[in-house]
Amino acid sequence: DDYQLGNYSNFMHKEIWEQPESVRRTLLGRLDERFGTARLGGINLDPRALRAIRRVKFLGCGSAYYAGQIGANLVEEWARLPADAEPASELRYRNPVVEEDTLYVAVSQSGETADTLAAVQELRRKGGQVIGVVNTVGSAIARECGSGVFLHAGPEVSVASTKAYTNMAVCFAMLALSLGRVRDLSVSDGSRIVAALDALPARITEVFAAEDEISAVAKEHSGAERMFFIGRVRGWPVAREGAQKLKEISYVHAEAYQAGELKHGPLALIDPGMPSVVVVPDDELLVKNIGTIEQIKARGGPVIAVTNASLPSGLADSVIQVPRSEPELDPILFTIPLQVFAYHLAHHLGRDIDKPRNLAKSVTVE
Ligand code: G6P
Repeated sequence: DDYQLGNYSNFMHKEIWEQPESVRRTLLGRLDERFGTARLGGINLDPRALRAIRRVKFLGCGSAYYAGQIGANLVEEWARLPADAEPASELRYRNPVVEEDTLYVAVSQSGETADTLAAVQELRRKGGQVIGVVNTVGSAIARECGSGVFLHAGPEVSVASTKAYTNMAVCFAMLALSLGRVRDLSVSDGSRIVAALDALPARITEVFAAEDEISAVAKEHSGAERMFFIGRVRGWPVAREGAQKLKEISYVHAEAYQAGELKHGPLALIDPGMPSVVVVPDDELLVKNIGTIEQIKARGGPVIAVTNASLPSGLADSVIQVPRSEPELDPILFTIPLQVFAYHLAHHLGRDIDKPRNLAKSVTVE
């Protein structure tokens, strides 16, 4: 109840702006510069037990599921373990193969989402090893899991998750780092990642310096009834979460697509009334993503590029510039300007940002 709006006009704006501080809180005391790793006190596994994990599966609903996809990509990249994310609402009704050497990671801001709780219970019944990554201490999922990691995002009031989402992704980066460092990730790579995590709050603050420009881009496109969010690999969870934010609070139909899949159907929808937000990190896929923009432009579709590269001028109609970090952390950093974009677009449309129609902050019934 101490959590007040202060000078903000709604909680979503406040919570977006709190992210440098909430990321700092979740990193606090968990990074080990000397050994280039992270220590998550809630996961009491010695190096041998950590090494015995052969697969990691992230479960959650909504934004927690998309954050899990960032986690799965990082586990695969740094620990070279097979990893994936699945909506908890699907897993609970499948008959999943539960393996002893899989680490299941249940992800939830509230810790009360019914589908996620039911998935945890089903996995535990089958002998699965489940940890919780949860924001709310004492919540049902935290209690059911018994061990795990708290997000330390502080209270999140806005229905659309922002700071809890980012802290989920940061915690998964630390989990992936600790799994990587008991395997083949070198101390120098570990240290590079630790330094980049440590610098993340400052990079997020830099995003906010561009808020007026992002708001102008949002205003310019606020007449669109539908939008694509396009990304590949690291950009794919960014596109999904960007689309999720926009549809939740602005009611604009937003659909995320993997860039390479565009030609297998969605290209048919491209026209001047369908802007595409394209996620373009300056990584080994830059040339591919530039090709994607050209394909969209050739069909008359407006393009908003979200990028930390210097793109050829005139390539995209609008550019949202993102600060540079280490490439593996781009999915975390790139999501922030898309939160700001969705926020301002909804604001221009006069939506009730903290309480979008038909949605609840936490879905405790099926
Ligand atoms: C609801 C909220 C979403 C959230 C999802 C999962 O649908 O509107 O913002 O991502 O639940 O919530 P949780 O508390 O489990 O993270």
